[in-house]
Amino acid sequence: MEEKIQEIKGRIALELADVKTSAELFQLKAKYVLGKAGIIPGLMKELGKAAKEDRPKLGMVINSLKEWATEYFAKKEIEINEAEKNYRYKKETIDITMPAKHLKQGTLHPVSLVKAELIDIFAGMGFRVLETREIEDDFHNFTALNTPKEHPARDKQDTFYINDDFMLRTHTSPGQIRSLTTIKPPFKVLIPGRVYRADDDATHSPMFHQMEGLVIDEKITLCDLQGMLDVLVKKMFSEEAKTRFRPSFFPFTEPSVEVDVSCFECGGKGCKLCKGTGWIEILGGGIVNRKVLENCGVDPDKYTGFAFGLGLDRIAMLKNGVNNIHVLYEGDLRALGQFKG
Ligand code: DAH
Repeated sequence: MEEKIQEIKGRIALELADVKTSAELFQLKAKYVLGKAGIIPGLMKELGKAAKEDRPKLGMVINSLKEWATEYFAKKEIEINEAEKNYRYKKETIDITMPAKHLKQGTLHPVSLVKAELIDIFAGMGFRVLETREIEDDFHNFTALNTPKEHPARDKQDTFYINDDFMLRTHTSPGQIRSLTTIKPPFKVLIPGRVYRADDDATHSPMFHQMEGLVIDEKITLCDLQGMLDVLVKKMFSEEAKTRFRPSFFPFTEPSVEVDVSCFECGGKGCKLCKGTGWIEILGGGIVNRKVLENCGVDPDKYTGFAFGLGLDRIAMLKNGVNNIHVLYEGDLRALGQFKG
């Protein structure tokens, strides 16, 4: 038995010398010391075959072999764990002197920039922002806005109809009806959003953006609109910017106006941007037509209001010297990345 034990010790020492990983170590441990199948526990089983008087001594010898082996394996385990840890640390070392990867930072879309700037200015005047629906019905998009059945704006060539009753809104003006029928006057609302028309050329896209404004109170006049727009253009373009009203027609406002701002490129002297006129059209507006108020159940003898609608894409293009609206929607980051607020 003594010989056998020496031989086992020798084998363990030999085999352990070759072990490099904790997995290999575990396998070897299983082979010699673990469970009933291990070689050393196997020796215990053989005890039964020995002479009775030899058994206690042999038991002790085998036990001390087991202790020796366990300790031997434990030492090796510490060694291997240390080596594996060092290897991992080395592998995971980060070279902080390496040049950093260049991360590209995105920019906001030019239309989002214009929208945010306008909302900021109007919020300062007490407007609240509403987002109303993009699929509208005939009543909100046309009828209630005093746009009768034969009106050319209803032309199937302009409007994307979904069925006889529903369409993609052709302007943000239906937001006026949604406000008038749900909010108790007085109020000031701003309704930005996407609008749709079957139109597609250098300055028109089938989907574009408008921002509607509506102020309802007692004794509102065109002067209120003019005063507010003067403040707007000074904040939006420059302190020197002026506005000019031209008479116009919209079914939902009476009187209606088209509003120009003095050219922010040449200051009014005349240049390419303003086509030599010194003025640039920025929006349509007017005094809310009595019929619109009546259609929404608001008393037109008590309340009056002004409304306006402006094209966000148009303003983004004007401000950034873009003459083709498709630049805004082709998703070319080389172009879009250049726009500033
Ligand atoms: N909805 C008009 C359009 O799409 C723009 C507009 C004009 C809106 C006058 C208004 C307004 O609120 O008063 O062309």
